[in-house]
Amino acid sequence: MAKVNDPVTINGITLKNRLTVAPTVKFDYAGEDGKVTEKHIAHYAERANGGYGLICVEATAVTPEGRFGKNHLGLWEDAQIEGHRKIAKVCHEAGTAVILQINHTGITGNPEFGPAKGPSAVPTRDGGMSVEMSPDEIRNMQQAYIDAAKRAGDAGYDGIQLHGCHGYLINQFVSPKTNLRTDEYGKDRSLFASGIIRGIRQACGKDFLISIRTPGIEPDIENAVAVAKKYVEAGCDYLQVSHGIEGVKVVPQDEPFSDLCSLGINFRKAYDWKVPVSAVGGLLTPETVRYVIENDLIDTVDLARAALADPGFAKAVLEGKPYVKCFECKACQYGPFTNHICPAALQRKRAKQ
Ligand SMILES: Cc1cc2nc3c(=O)[nH]c(=O)nc-3n(C[C@H](O)[C@H](O)[C@H](O)COP(=O)(O)O)c2cc1C
Repeated sequence: MAKVNDPVTINGITLKNRLTVAPTVKFDYAGEDGKVTEKHIAHYAERANGGYGLICVEATAVTPEGRFGKNHLGLWEDAQIEGHRKIAKVCHEAGTAVILQINHTGITGNPEFGPAKGPSAVPTRDGGMSVEMSPDEIRNMQQAYIDAAKRAGDAGYDGIQLHGCHGYLINQFVSPKTNLRTDEYGKDRSLFASGIIRGIRQACGKDFLISIRTPGIEPDIENAVAVAKKYVEAGCDYLQVSHGIEGVKVVPQDEPFSDLCSLGINFRKAYDWKVPVSAVGGLLTPETVRYVIENDLIDTVDLARAALADPGFAKAVLEGKPYVKCFECKACQYGPFTNHICPAALQRKRAKQ
Protein backbone atom coordinates (compact mmCIF):
# COMPACT_ATOMS: atom_id res chain seq x y z
CA MET A 1 0.00 0.00 0.00
CA ALA A 2 1.42 3.42 -0.99
CA LYS A 3 1.83 5.98 1.78
CA VAL A 4 1.52 9.74 1.51
CA ASN A 5 5.10 10.14 2.67
CA ASP A 6 6.56 7.63 0.19
CA PRO A 7 9.05 9.34 -2.09
CA VAL A 8 8.56 9.16 -5.83
CA THR A 9 11.26 9.67 -8.47
CA ILE A 10 10.30 11.33 -11.73
CA ASN A 11 12.98 11.49 -14.41
CA GLY A 12 15.69 11.29 -11.77
CA ILE A 13 14.17 13.97 -9.50
CA THR A 14 13.01 12.60 -6.18
CA LEU A 15 9.94 14.14 -4.56
CA LYS A 16 10.15 13.45 -0.83
CA ASN A 17 6.44 12.65 -0.62
CA ARG A 18 3.27 12.39 -2.73
CA LEU A 19 1.95 15.90 -2.04
CA THR A 20 2.38 18.60 -4.68
CA VAL A 21 1.31 22.23 -4.70
CA ALA A 22 -0.88 22.92 -7.75
CA PRO A 23 -0.29 26.09 -9.80
CA THR A 24 -2.34 29.05 -8.56
CA VAL A 25 -2.01 32.51 -10.10
CA LYS A 26 -1.44 35.40 -7.71
CA PHE A 27 -3.52 37.91 -9.60
CA ASP A 28 -2.13 41.11 -8.13
CA TYR A 29 1.47 40.17 -7.29
CA ALA A 30 3.38 40.81 -10.55
CA GLY A 31 4.03 44.24 -11.97
CA GLU A 32 3.34 45.14 -15.60
CA ASP A 33 6.87 43.96 -16.47
CA GLY A 34 5.75 40.40 -15.61
CA LYS A 35 8.61 40.03 -13.13
CA VAL A 36 8.61 38.04 -9.89
CA THR A 37 8.12 40.21 -6.80
CA GLU A 38 9.08 39.78 -3.15
CA LYS A 39 5.47 38.71 -2.48
CA HIS A 40 5.89 35.74 -4.86
CA ILE A 41 9.14 34.70 -3.20
CA ALA A 42 7.61 34.87 0.30
CA HIS A 43 4.53 32.97 -0.89
CA TYR A 44 6.52 30.08 -2.38
CA ALA A 45 9.04 30.00 0.49
CA GLU A 46 6.16 29.58 2.95
CA ARG A 47 4.76 26.63 0.96
CA ALA A 48 8.21 25.09 0.41
CA ASN A 49 8.73 25.12 4.16
CA GLY A 50 5.29 23.52 4.51
CA GLY A 51 6.77 20.16 3.55
CA TYR A 52 5.38 19.38 0.06
CA GLY A 53 7.33 17.12 -2.29
CA LEU A 54 6.92 19.44 -5.28
CA ILE A 55 5.71 22.93 -5.99
CA CYS A 56 4.39 23.90 -9.40
CA VAL A 57 4.69 27.67 -9.69
CA GLU A 58 1.70 29.45 -11.20
CA ALA A 59 0.81 29.92 -14.89
CA THR A 60 3.57 32.06 -16.41
CA ALA A 61 3.16 33.67 -19.82
CA VAL A 62 5.48 32.67 -22.67
CA THR A 63 4.74 35.90 -24.60
CA PRO A 64 3.36 39.26 -23.42
CA GLU A 65 0.20 38.66 -25.51
CA GLY A 66 -0.37 35.33 -23.73
CA ARG A 67 -0.96 36.97 -20.34
CA PHE A 68 -4.30 36.89 -18.49
CA GLY A 69 -3.89 40.56 -17.70
CA LYS A 70 -1.28 43.26 -17.11
CA ASN A 71 -0.21 41.90 -13.72
CA HIS A 72 0.63 38.41 -14.83
CA LEU A 73 3.91 36.60 -14.27
CA GLY A 74 6.05 36.09 -17.39
CA LEU A 75 9.18 34.43 -18.66
CA TRP A 76 9.22 35.75 -22.19
CA GLU A 77 12.57 37.54 -21.84
CA ASP A 78 15.89 37.01 -20.12
CA ALA A 79 15.40 40.00 -17.79
CA GLN A 80 12.67 37.97 -16.05
CA ILE A 81 14.98 35.04 -15.17
CA GLU A 82 16.50 36.58 -12.03
CA GLY A 83 13.25 36.70 -10.04
CA HIS A 84 12.43 33.10 -10.95
CA ARG A 85 15.91 32.11 -9.77
CA LYS A 86 14.95 33.38 -6.31
CA ILE A 87 11.76 31.26 -6.24
CA ALA A 88 13.68 28.13 -7.33
CA LYS A 89 16.32 28.84 -4.67
CA VAL A 90 13.93 29.17 -1.71
CA CYS A 91 12.17 25.97 -2.73
CA HIS A 92 15.40 24.00 -3.07
CA GLU A 93 16.70 25.33 0.25
CA ALA A 94 13.61 23.78 1.86
CA GLY A 95 14.24 20.45 0.10
CA THR A 96 11.28 20.85 -2.26
CA ALA A 97 11.44 20.17 -5.98
CA VAL A 98 10.01 23.02 -8.06
CA ILE A 99 8.71 23.34 -11.60
CA LEU A 100 7.15 26.25 -13.46
CA GLN A 101 3.84 26.16 -15.33
CA ILE A 102 4.17 27.88 -18.72
CA ASN A 103 1.15 29.08 -20.63
CA HIS A 104 -0.41 31.11 -23.43
CA THR A 105 -4.05 32.13 -23.36
CA GLY A 106 -4.63 31.75 -27.14
CA ILE A 107 -8.21 32.62 -28.08
CA THR A 108 -9.12 33.41 -24.45
CA GLY A 109 -6.54 36.21 -24.55
CA ASN A 110 -7.07 39.61 -23.08
CA PRO A 111 -8.27 41.94 -25.95
CA GLU A 112 -5.88 44.61 -24.59
CA PHE A 113 -3.02 42.53 -26.01
CA GLY A 114 -4.30 42.20 -29.59
CA PRO A 115 -6.60 39.90 -31.57
CA ALA A 116 -7.49 36.51 -30.09
CA LYS A 117 -5.44 34.00 -32.07
CA GLY A 118 -5.68 30.22 -31.86
CA PRO A 119 -5.88 27.03 -33.91
CA SER A 120 -9.04 28.12 -35.77
CA ALA A 121 -11.54 30.92 -36.29
CA VAL A 122 -14.24 30.15 -33.71
CA PRO A 123 -16.57 32.31 -31.59
CA THR A 124 -14.86 33.88 -28.59
CA ARG A 125 -16.23 34.56 -25.12
CA ASP A 126 -16.74 38.27 -25.87
CA GLY A 127 -18.96 37.55 -28.90
CA GLY A 128 -16.26 38.02 -31.56
CA MET A 129 -14.31 35.52 -33.66
CA SER A 130 -10.77 34.33 -33.12
CA VAL A 131 -8.12 34.45 -35.84
CA GLU A 132 -6.60 31.22 -37.19
CA MET A 133 -2.85 30.93 -36.66
CA SER A 134 -0.74 30.36 -39.77
CA PRO A 135 1.76 27.43 -39.79
CA ASP A 136 4.58 29.98 -39.28
CA GLU A 137 2.79 31.51 -36.31
CA ILE A 138 2.33 28.03 -34.84
CA ARG A 139 6.05 27.26 -35.16
CA ASN A 140 6.97 30.64 -33.61
CA MET A 141 4.58 29.98 -30.75
CA GLN A 142 6.06 26.53 -30.11
CA GLN A 143 9.47 28.21 -30.01
CA ALA A 144 8.19 30.73 -27.44
CA TYR A 145 7.26 27.84 -25.11
CA ILE A 146 10.65 26.19 -25.72
CA ASP A 147 12.51 29.46 -25.04
CA ALA A 148 10.53 30.01 -21.82
CA ALA A 149 11.37 26.45 -20.70
CA LYS A 150 15.05 27.08 -21.42
CA ARG A 151 14.90 30.23 -19.28
CA ALA A 152 13.16 28.20 -16.55
CA GLY A 153 16.09 25.77 -16.62
CA ASP A 154 18.54 28.69 -16.46
CA ALA A 155 16.63 30.01 -13.43
CA GLY A 156 17.21 26.71 -11.63
CA TYR A 157 13.78 25.12 -11.87
CA ASP A 158 13.80 21.30 -11.95
CA GLY A 159 11.49 21.40 -14.93
CA ILE A 160 8.31 22.85 -16.35
CA GLN A 161 4.67 22.01 -16.59
CA LEU A 162 2.94 22.84 -19.88
CA HIS A 163 -0.52 24.18 -19.19
CA GLY A 164 -2.59 21.92 -21.40
CA CYS A 165 -5.92 22.40 -19.58
CA HIS A 166 -8.63 24.92 -18.69
CA GLY A 167 -9.25 26.11 -22.25
CA TYR A 168 -5.88 27.76 -22.90
CA LEU A 169 -3.83 27.47 -26.11
CA ILE A 170 -2.52 23.89 -25.85
CA ASN A 171 -5.99 22.73 -24.79
CA GLN A 172 -7.48 24.67 -27.76
CA PHE A 173 -5.35 22.59 -30.14
CA VAL A 174 -6.62 19.35 -28.53
CA SER A 175 -10.35 20.16 -28.39
CA PRO A 176 -12.44 19.47 -31.52
CA LYS A 177 -14.52 22.51 -30.50
CA THR A 178 -11.64 24.94 -31.04
CA ASN A 179 -9.36 23.09 -33.48
CA LEU A 180 -11.18 22.79 -36.83
CA ARG A 181 -7.98 22.66 -38.90
CA THR A 182 -7.56 20.21 -41.77
CA ASP A 183 -3.73 20.41 -41.87
CA GLU A 184 -1.34 18.28 -39.79
CA TYR A 185 -2.28 20.18 -36.58
CA GLY A 186 -5.93 19.22 -37.14
CA LYS A 187 -5.26 15.63 -38.18
CA ASP A 188 -3.15 15.09 -35.04
CA ARG A 189 -4.46 17.38 -32.32
CA SER A 190 -1.60 16.46 -29.97
CA LEU A 191 0.99 17.74 -32.47
CA PHE A 192 1.23 21.33 -31.20
CA ALA A 193 2.21 20.28 -27.67
CA SER A 194 4.19 17.18 -28.75
CA GLY A 195 6.40 19.44 -30.87
CA ILE A 196 6.94 21.71 -27.88
CA ILE A 197 7.85 18.74 -25.67
CA ARG A 198 10.40 17.47 -28.23
CA GLY A 199 11.89 20.96 -28.53
CA ILE A 200 12.15 21.37 -24.75
CA ARG A 201 13.83 18.00 -24.37
CA GLN A 202 16.39 19.00 -26.97
CA ALA A 203 16.96 22.49 -25.52
CA CYS A 204 16.95 21.56 -21.81
CA GLY A 205 18.54 18.11 -21.79
CA LYS A 206 17.56 14.65 -20.62
CA ASP A 207 17.48 15.48 -16.89
CA PHE A 208 14.92 18.29 -17.15
CA LEU A 209 11.49 17.29 -15.81
CA ILE A 210 8.77 17.83 -18.42
CA SER A 211 5.23 17.58 -17.22
CA ILE A 212 1.90 18.56 -18.72
CA ARG A 213 -1.41 19.42 -17.13
CA THR A 214 -3.74 17.54 -19.43
CA PRO A 215 -7.54 17.08 -19.50
CA GLY A 216 -9.08 13.88 -18.11
CA ILE A 217 -11.66 14.01 -20.92
CA GLU A 218 -11.34 15.88 -24.25
CA PRO A 219 -13.84 15.23 -25.75
CA ASP A 220 -13.88 11.79 -24.10
CA ILE A 221 -11.49 9.76 -21.97
CA GLU A 222 -10.28 7.61 -24.90
CA ASN A 223 -9.10 10.65 -26.85
CA ALA A 224 -7.63 12.30 -23.75
CA VAL A 225 -5.57 9.18 -23.06
CA ALA A 226 -4.50 8.82 -26.72
CA VAL A 227 -3.29 12.45 -26.75
CA ALA A 228 -1.42 12.00 -23.46
CA LYS A 229 0.23 8.87 -24.83
CA LYS A 230 1.70 10.99 -27.65
CA TYR A 231 2.98 13.50 -25.09
CA VAL A 232 4.76 10.69 -23.27
CA GLU A 233 6.20 9.34 -26.54
CA ALA A 234 7.50 12.87 -27.22
CA GLY A 235 9.34 12.89 -23.88
CA CYS A 236 6.86 13.97 -21.19
CA ASP A 237 7.70 12.53 -17.75
CA TYR A 238 4.62 13.29 -15.66
CA LEU A 239 0.90 13.77 -16.37
CA GLN A 240 -1.08 16.05 -14.08
CA VAL A 241 -4.75 15.66 -14.89
CA SER A 242 -7.34 18.43 -14.59
CA HIS A 243 -10.26 19.47 -16.79
CA GLY A 244 -10.34 20.82 -20.33
CA ILE A 245 -12.85 22.58 -22.55
CA GLU A 246 -15.21 19.62 -22.16
CA GLY A 247 -15.31 20.33 -18.42
CA VAL A 248 -16.06 17.68 -15.81
CA LYS A 249 -18.72 15.23 -16.95
CA VAL A 250 -20.36 14.06 -13.78
CA VAL A 251 -20.28 10.30 -13.46
CA PRO A 252 -22.36 9.21 -10.44
CA GLN A 253 -19.90 7.81 -7.93
CA ASP A 254 -20.00 6.54 -4.42
CA GLU A 255 -16.52 7.65 -3.45
CA PRO A 256 -15.22 10.25 -1.01
CA PHE A 257 -13.58 12.50 -3.60
CA SER A 258 -14.77 15.16 -6.03
CA ASP A 259 -15.87 14.71 -9.65
CA LEU A 260 -12.83 16.72 -10.76
CA CYS A 261 -10.54 14.41 -8.81
CA SER A 262 -12.26 11.39 -10.37
CA LEU A 263 -11.08 12.65 -13.79
CA GLY A 264 -7.47 11.98 -12.78
CA ILE A 265 -8.32 8.69 -11.08
CA ASN A 266 -10.30 7.35 -14.07
CA PHE A 267 -7.62 8.58 -16.47
CA ARG A 268 -4.93 6.67 -14.56
CA LYS A 269 -7.08 3.51 -14.66
CA ALA A 270 -7.41 3.85 -18.43
CA TYR A 271 -3.70 4.46 -18.88
CA ASP A 272 -1.06 1.77 -18.75
CA TRP A 273 2.39 3.33 -19.14
CA LYS A 274 5.03 4.06 -16.61
CA VAL A 275 4.86 7.77 -15.96
CA PRO A 276 3.21 9.00 -12.77
CA VAL A 277 -0.25 10.56 -12.90
CA SER A 278 -1.66 13.15 -10.51
CA ALA A 279 -5.21 14.20 -9.70
CA VAL A 280 -6.52 17.54 -8.46
CA GLY A 281 -9.76 18.90 -7.10
CA GLY A 282 -11.44 19.12 -3.71
CA LEU A 283 -8.57 17.45 -1.85
CA LEU A 284 -9.13 19.66 1.16
CA THR A 285 -8.76 17.31 4.14
CA PRO A 286 -5.94 14.96 5.21
CA GLU A 287 -8.44 12.08 5.18
CA THR A 288 -9.32 12.52 1.49
CA VAL A 289 -5.68 12.88 0.49
CA ARG A 290 -4.71 9.73 2.36
CA TYR A 291 -7.69 7.84 0.90
CA VAL A 292 -6.71 8.41 -2.73
CA ILE A 293 -3.03 7.64 -2.17
CA GLU A 294 -3.37 4.72 0.23
CA ASN A 295 -5.96 2.99 -1.99
CA ASP A 296 -3.49 3.34 -4.88
CA LEU A 297 -5.96 5.41 -6.91
CA ILE A 298 -3.35 7.96 -7.99
CA ASP A 299 0.43 8.50 -7.80
CA THR A 300 0.56 12.08 -6.47
CA VAL A 301 -2.07 14.57 -5.31
CA ASP A 302 -2.11 18.16 -6.51
CA LEU A 303 -3.31 20.61 -3.85
CA ALA A 304 -4.44 24.12 -4.74
CA ARG A 305 -6.86 25.70 -2.27
CA ALA A 306 -5.74 23.52 0.66
CA ALA A 307 -2.19 24.85 0.25
CA LEU A 308 -3.44 28.42 -0.25
CA ALA A 309 -5.59 28.28 2.88
CA ASP A 310 -2.77 26.84 4.96
CA PRO A 311 0.81 26.52 3.69
CA GLY A 312 1.33 23.88 6.38
CA PHE A 313 -1.46 21.60 5.10
CA ALA A 314 1.15 19.00 4.03
CA LYS A 315 2.21 18.60 7.65
CA ALA A 316 -1.41 17.92 8.62
CA VAL A 317 -1.45 15.08 6.09
CA LEU A 318 2.04 13.75 6.82
CA GLU A 319 2.30 14.28 10.57
CA GLY A 320 -1.26 14.87 11.80
CA LYS A 321 -0.50 18.51 12.72
CA PRO A 322 -3.46 20.93 13.13
CA TYR A 323 -4.34 23.05 10.08
CA VAL A 324 -6.81 25.67 8.89
CA LYS A 325 -9.26 24.21 6.38
CA CYS A 326 -10.17 26.06 3.17
CA PHE A 327 -13.56 27.78 3.52
CA GLU A 328 -14.29 27.19 -0.21
CA CYS A 329 -15.37 30.84 -0.48
CA LYS A 330 -13.39 31.70 -3.67
CA ALA A 331 -11.69 34.68 -2.01
CA CYS A 332 -8.42 33.46 -3.55
CA GLN A 333 -9.96 33.72 -7.05
CA TYR A 334 -12.00 36.88 -6.70
CA GLY A 335 -10.32 38.56 -3.74
CA PRO A 336 -7.88 40.70 -5.72
CA PHE A 337 -10.79 42.14 -7.73
CA THR A 338 -13.22 42.56 -4.82
CA ASN A 339 -10.99 43.11 -1.77
CA HIS A 340 -12.37 39.87 -0.36
CA ILE A 341 -9.96 38.40 2.20
CA CYS A 342 -9.27 34.69 2.60
CA PRO A 343 -10.91 33.74 5.93
CA ALA A 344 -8.39 30.92 6.43
CA ALA A 345 -5.51 33.42 6.16
CA LEU A 346 -7.29 35.67 8.69
CA GLN A 347 -7.74 32.73 11.04
CA ARG A 348 -4.03 31.87 10.79
CA LYS A 349 -3.07 35.50 11.39
CA ARG A 350 -5.26 35.73 14.51
CA ALA A 351 -3.88 32.46 15.85
CA LYS A 352 -0.34 33.92 15.63
CA GLN A 353 -1.28 37.12 17.53
C1 LIG B 1 -6.64 31.29 -7.00
C2 LIG B 1 -6.49 30.20 -7.99
C3 LIG B 1 -5.58 30.33 -9.04
C4 LIG B 1 -5.39 29.30 -9.97
N1 LIG B 1 -4.42 29.41 -10.92
C5 LIG B 1 -4.13 28.34 -11.71
C6 LIG B 1 -3.01 28.36 -12.57
O1 LIG B 1 -2.19 29.28 -12.58
N2 LIG B 1 -2.83 27.29 -13.39
C7 LIG B 1 -3.65 26.18 -13.36
O2 LIG B 1 -3.42 25.23 -14.10
N3 LIG B 1 -4.70 26.14 -12.51
C8 LIG B 1 -4.94 27.16 -11.68
N4 LIG B 1 -5.94 27.06 -10.76
C9 LIG B 1 -6.67 25.77 -10.61
C10 LIG B 1 -6.01 24.94 -9.50
O3 LIG B 1 -4.66 24.60 -9.82
C11 LIG B 1 -6.79 23.64 -9.21
O4 LIG B 1 -6.80 22.87 -10.37
C12 LIG B 1 -8.22 23.90 -8.76
O5 LIG B 1 -8.29 24.96 -7.81
C13 LIG B 1 -8.84 22.65 -8.12
O6 LIG B 1 -8.03 22.20 -7.05
P1 LIG B 1 -8.42 22.47 -5.48
O7 LIG B 1 -9.78 21.87 -5.26
O8 LIG B 1 -7.32 21.78 -4.72
O9 LIG B 1 -8.45 23.96 -5.28
C14 LIG B 1 -6.17 28.10 -9.85
C15 LIG B 1 -7.10 27.98 -8.80
C16 LIG B 1 -7.25 28.99 -7.87
C17 LIG B 1 -8.22 28.79 -6.74
